[in-house]
Amino acid sequence: MRLAVLVSGTGSILEAMLGVGLPVDLVGADRPCRGLGVAADAELKTVLVARDDWTGGGATAMVGTDTIAGVDAAGGADETGQPVGTAGTGDGTREPEHGTQRGCFDREGYSCELAAVLDGRGVDVVAMAGFGTVLDGSFFEWGDGRYRGRVLNTHPSLLPAFPGWHAVRDALDAGAAESGCTVHVAIPEVDAGPVLAQQAVPVMPGDDEATLHERIKAVERELYPATIAAFLDELAAARSR
Ligand code: GRF
Repeated sequence: MRLAVLVSGTGSILEAMLGVGLPVDLVGADRPCRGLGVAADAELKTVLVARDDWTGGGATAMVGTDTIAGVDAAGGADETGQPVGTAGTGDGTREPEHGTQRGCFDREGYSCELAAVLDGRGVDVVAMAGFGTVLDGSFFEWGDGRYRGRVLNTHPSLLPAFPGWHAVRDALDAGAAESGCTVHVAIPEVDAGPVLAQQAVPVMPGDDEATLHERIKAVERELYPATIAAFLDELAAARSR
């Protein structure tokens, strides 16, 4: 059972996975980011399938996307892990907005390419950990549904409350007394799919987006790896039956 983790940002959830010995075989990213550096430091295989190569109307420009042997791919990120020159919340959860290229992203082409790359490396289960690109149905349906029901995600809210890229900010704006995190099986609809685990955290007086998000991430760093481990165990048990 080969596990890939997809990152776009700081990779602190990935670090937590590695810290508890989750068997991560490959780390993929859609942009240069600190998360790739975390993987390289752990001597894991990494692959960058750059979403920038799928903007501007071309599904043909897979340039410079290959297995990354060193930490070079981590270059170009600021201290928050966001790639320099792209818009972002600093939480690694937001699709970049590329000015004039906005709206020109070939999501289906990108999703197929990423699925093909992961499939080509024998990946069975995909865990998104702050991955900043929405994958469309073609990812899940790749190879007769290779990744249907095999993609996990963690989201920084108690779904179905506050889906989307600004979950933490939205909880604060709504005056919620608590928020939390949700680990779920990903489906083509964003921040939806069967919930595997949830845990609440309180919203404290004076919280801002950063402090609340960090409180949520502290929970995610325990809940997500444990949930992935249980998911892998169940899959392995089902295979052996
Ligand atoms: C987490 O809060 C996750 O729920 C969200 O992105 C964040 C990833 O954090 N999708 P990091 O990049 O692992 O630090």
